[in-house]
Amino acid sequence: GSQQAIERDVVIVGAGPAGLMAARRLREAGKSVAVLEARDRVGGRTWSNVIDGAFLELGGQWISPDQTVLLSLVDELGLETFDRYREGESVYIAPDGTRHTYSGHMFPASEETQREMDKLIALLNKLAAEVGAAEPWAAEKARELDTVSFHAWLRQNSSDEEACNNIGIYVAGGMLTKPAHSFSALQAVLMAASAGSFSNLVDEDFILDKRVVGGMQSVSVTMAEQLGVDDGTQVLESDTDTVVFLNSPVRTIQWAGQGETYEEHDPDFTVRVFSDRLTVKAKDVVVAVPPNLYSRISFEPPLPRFQHQMHQHQSLGIVIKVHAVYETPFWREKGLSGTGFGAYELSQEVYDNTNHGDERGTLVGFVSDEKADEVFRLPAEERKRLILKSLAHYLGDEALEPVVYYESDFGSEEWTRGAYAASYDLGGLSRYGAIQSEPVGPIRWACSDLAAEGYQHVDGALRQGELAASQIVDARKA
Ligand code: FDA
Repeated sequence: GSQQAIERDVVIVGAGPAGLMAARRLREAGKSVAVLEARDRVGGRTWSNVIDGAFLELGGQWISPDQTVLLSLVDELGLETFDRYREGESVYIAPDGTRHTYSGHMFPASEETQREMDKLIALLNKLAAEVGAAEPWAAEKARELDTVSFHAWLRQNSSDEEACNNIGIYVAGGMLTKPAHSFSALQAVLMAASAGSFSNLVDEDFILDKRVVGGMQSVSVTMAEQLGVDDGTQVLESDTDTVVFLNSPVRTIQWAGQGETYEEHDPDFTVRVFSDRLTVKAKDVVVAVPPNLYSRISFEPPLPRFQHQMHQHQSLGIVIKVHAVYETPFWREKGLSGTGFGAYELSQEVYDNTNHGDERGTLVGFVSDEKADEVFRLPAEERKRLILKSLAHYLGDEALEPVVYYESDFGSEEWTRGAYAASYDLGGLSRYGAIQSEPVGPIRWACSDLAAEGYQHVDGALRQGELAASQIVDARKA
């Protein structure tokens, strides 16, 4: 009926960090842009909310020192960061369930297990340096590493089960949020290389260094405000001032003329992108959604066969991010940092996640992959009880009685369907990686899931958005 049709140089699908960064850079280069966002908010997998009076970051939040694109954008937007609380001792829960406190980065396991862990870390550092994050599929060992599961690779290199599990969780439960038997050693090496080294991944003071005052979503919210946002509740006076359109899920992308194929595509073809609220005509499209959602969009004509196949091998993991708020950060009084690890615990990790300037104390825990499946089968009250019991195992019985409790569940979100990000199944990275960022005619792909540096992170999303923008500007100059 009243479908509005507008024209822009570039249309972007998705107002997460990648899509908004692409829009920001394209606008700076003088291009007109429309960003179509399915949800009623921007930020995608970054999202802050006040729940029962507590400010919580439900999605991506931490920044590491190597994430320089994110750090400079935070600066550019006039936002501030603060350090994660890390004074005091950390807690390690051993395979037999015993609880140990320690300082530094090495778990207080037996000397032999520590040696084995050091050995595995050194091996992974070496591979990460050799393989790199930019083109892991092109490495000499790519196929060899991509055809063995990370679980099996660890056991090929160490017979110490505790060491294998401790190293395993940094990538499996800790990052890809899939069981270590379901992705390859090459995928694990990419994860390490994208963060600079495997040592960086195991160093929580590096990988979980800073947060944004006001929450990570404010990076996207601020970018969107500067671009101009239309939530559909008002009649637009002048559509050219508005860049971001909320409540506009994209259903169809018409990207070539009748009978045209990828190879013989007319570069001057006017693309039409149909969303529930409006249609945008443009020269270029940036699809800035995670790969598991590409098939939600009808492409006319269909995408080439390799893309069809590839997209069926990229999937999101699943993790429950658990928030528990207490009247005080009680663990600090006991000389504990709030940091805890236990490969065999329901919550494999726990951290102090107290907000900047907050008197109350907040803990964040993570229940990943198969453990998440297990507790999602239980009634909510039982799940909560078991998760809090796990937090109490690390930090004491005070953890059993939070004043606010909440579970982030991106697996139930229509426009995400998992957490944190996408990775390939066994063998997929070496098989398809080389073409994952190849444009299809006027369509480019940008999201954290395809990033090299900052892979799976907000920083990687921004790098991808920036790259897509500069490629479009360059291509249209010629
Ligand atoms: P993102 O998914 O953020 O944005 C895509 C957007 O596209 C969404 O807004 C979606 O609604 C929209 N969309 C989808 N389909 C559409 C359609 N058909 N039409 C229109 N719009 C559509 N990172 C980090 O750096 N530090 C951290 O601490 C964490 N922790 C963390 C915790 C949890 C629980 C999650 C879920 C994620 C993280 N991450 C993280 C990861 C980080 O949040 C993620 O990598 C980025 O948000 C990805 O940004 P993108 O823009 O690539 O996708």
